[in-house]
Amino acid sequence: MSNTWLNSGSREGVNTSTFVMIKPRGLSHWPLIKKRIEATAPIARTGLVFVTRELIEQHYAEHAGKEWFVQLTDYFVGRYVLAIEVLAAPEVIRKIIGTTNPQDPVNKNTVRGLVNSLTPDDTTTVAYTKGIDNLIHGADSEEAAKREIDLWFNHPVPPTPAYLCLMNRKVALEGDCVSPLIGIDFDLSNSMTLASHITDILEALPWNKRWSQFGEKIPALLVGGVPALQIIAVQYLTTLTGKSFEICWIDHTDGAPKSVELQSVKKRARRHRDDL
Ligand code: GTP
Ligand code: MG
Repeated sequence: MSNTWLNSGSREGVNTSTFVMIKPRGLSHWPLIKKRIEATAPIARTGLVFVTRELIEQHYAEHAGKEWFVQLTDYFVGRYVLAIEVLAAPEVIRKIIGTTNPQDPVNKNTVRGLVNSLTPDDTTTVAYTKGIDNLIHGADSEEAAKREIDLWFNHPVPPTPAYLCLMNRKVALEGDCVSPLIGIDFDLSNSMTLASHITDILEALPWNKRWSQFGEKIPALLVGGVPALQIIAVQYLTTLTGKSFEICWIDHTDGAPKSVELQSVKKRARRHRDDL
């Protein structure tokens, strides 16, 4: 296993923890959000979770029946979120998260306040976020924190997929393929940020423990799209698990995955860099 501190935080001297969740669009901004959280409290563990309707309806059960409940839950279903346990009291973290509406003037220096600076100039915040996306969720009491930690960290991990898709765009592959990076806009301008963003997300994959501890079959990696992203992801997973992966491309003539060597992925990355 990697020995980065992200999933191995110490609980020494801390007797309370809270639950935080990075909402789907917030995953693009994880490096910034993580910095804000770390400045206040250590992160004990993270888990990348595929959201089912049942899971998100249980999470937001207190809002069932409200007119925006379906809109709110629809936004999450079928997408990934990052579940996080933070070693601090819920009210401490709620303070840095800010109030529900990102446009609230009191949110100037909060995590939710980031939405305002991230919104493209030619659109309104409401249109951009559909009125519900404030990037992050924080449990609002100790009872809620306990319930949510239990809900998001203790549910069964699905079977390891045959393919792990490392592209941020959808590929046309039927069947047993999982795509945790879809929809995440990676910041390609800074290689350090890019590396830590991808590795944080891959480290939080629900199957990682099983590959490294239980010798479970590891999926073939489907790569494509941005070469720099692929290299970081492939090398990180190799380091993390101590195993080598089969790497595949989607052949668009028949839509089937075809095996490739890491060398040829690297060659493409070099060409990409030279073209920039
Ligand atoms: P969470 O940390 O996500 O629970 O936010 P919160 O505790 O600040 O707000 P609350 O629990 O009241 O609402 C849950 C989520 O529902 C909010 O984060 C918003 O995304 C969404 N929401 C709340 N109020 C409204 C509303 O009036 N309209 C819409 N469309 N969404 C809302
Ligand atoms: Mg709430």
